[in-house]
Amino acid sequence: MSDIIGVLYGGYSNEREVSLKTGIAIHNSLLRSGYKSVLIDLHKPDKLANWNFLKLLAENEIKTVVIAIHGTPGEDGILQGFLELSGINYSGSSARAAMLSMDKTLTKLIFRNEKIPTPEFMTIQRKQPVDFSCWRHYPAVIKPANEGSSIGVEFAYNEKELNMSIGKLLSLYEKIMVEEFIEGDELTVGFMGKRSLPIIKIVPKNGFYDYHNKYTKGATEYIIPAPLDKLSAKRIIEVATRAVGSVGISGVSRVDIILKNSIPYVLEINSIPGMTETSLLPNAAKATGVDFDSLCRWIVKDASKKQKNK
Ligand SMILES: Nc1ncnc2c1ncn2[C@@H]1O[C@H](COP(=O)(O)OP(=O)(O)O)[C@@H](O)[C@H]1O
Ligand SMILES: [Mg+2]
Repeated sequence: MSDIIGVLYGGYSNEREVSLKTGIAIHNSLLRSGYKSVLIDLHKPDKLANWNFLKLLAENEIKTVVIAIHGTPGEDGILQGFLELSGINYSGSSARAAMLSMDKTLTKLIFRNEKIPTPEFMTIQRKQPVDFSCWRHYPAVIKPANEGSSIGVEFAYNEKELNMSIGKLLSLYEKIMVEEFIEGDELTVGFMGKRSLPIIKIVPKNGFYDYHNKYTKGATEYIIPAPLDKLSAKRIIEVATRAVGSVGISGVSRVDIILKNSIPYVLEINSIPGMTETSLLPNAAKATGVDFDSLCRWIVKDASKKQKNK
C-alpha cells in the first residue's frame, strides 16, 4: 500500500466542475483507506516544456493513476493513450474503448451492428453537410456527439424546431446527432468490471434528466433497485452487459437506458461515471454492500492489474 496513487482530475471539458468533485471524492476516499494519493489537476492541454503533469508523475514515482475526468481528456482516450505509452497503470477503459464510448454516434454504430437496441439516429457534422429533411421521428432529440451531463440536449417537435436546434448545436459543436425520442422509464446500469450492479430507476421531479436534475439535491428520485419484474431486470442486465462488451469497456462504467414496451433502448455508455458519494454508480454499489471506500479501493486494484489486458 506504499505506492503513491495519482488522481487525475478536473480536465478542460464542460464537465470540469463535476470532474473536480469526482476527483476530490476519490482522493479523500483513498486517503481514508491508507493510500498515499496525489491530486493532479489537468486544467489545460499543456506544452511539453511546462508539462507539470509529467513532472508530478515522475517526482512522486507514480505507477498507478485513477482517471477522474469526465469528458476530454480523461473520458475520450487521450489520457489513456498517453499513459499507455508511458507504461503507467490507469483505471478504467483502454484508449480505444474510451474513445468509442465518448462519441455517441460511434457507440451507436457498434450497437446497431451488434443488434443492441438503441434509438434511431442520424449523425450531422459541421464540415460535412447532410440532408436531414428525410428525418421522420418526432419528437426528436438533438445532442452533441461528444458531451455529457445532458449539456446541449434539445428536443424538437417538428421540422422547424429541428432546423433551429441543429443550427444552434452546429454553431457550438463539430459533430452532433439527431435521435428518436423514446418515451419510457429512464434506467441506468452500473458495472464494476463485468459485474453488473442493481438497476437504478431515475425519476426527475420536473422535466427531463437535465444538468439541473442531475446535480441538484432532491430534484430527482432514484429507486434502487428499479421496480421491475425478474425477467425484465434480467433482460435489461443482459442488454447492458452486451453493450459494455461490444465497446470493450472495462473498470467502472454506467449504461444509460430508456425502457419502452419492454425494450431497453441503450442511449450511451459512460466510461468515467460520476464518483461523488451521492452519484449513481456508488449508490448502486452501496446497495450490494460495497461502500464508497471499498469501491475506490477496487478501482485502484483493478487499475494496477489491468495494464496488460487493455
Ligand atoms: N433518445 C432519447 N429519448 C429520450 N430521452 C433522451 C434521449 N436522449 C437523451 N435523452 C435524455 O437526455 C439525457 C442525457 O442524454 P444522454 O444521451 O444520456 O447524454 P449525456 O448523459 O452524455 O449528456 C438522458 O438521460 C435522457 O433523460
Ligand atoms: Mg447519459
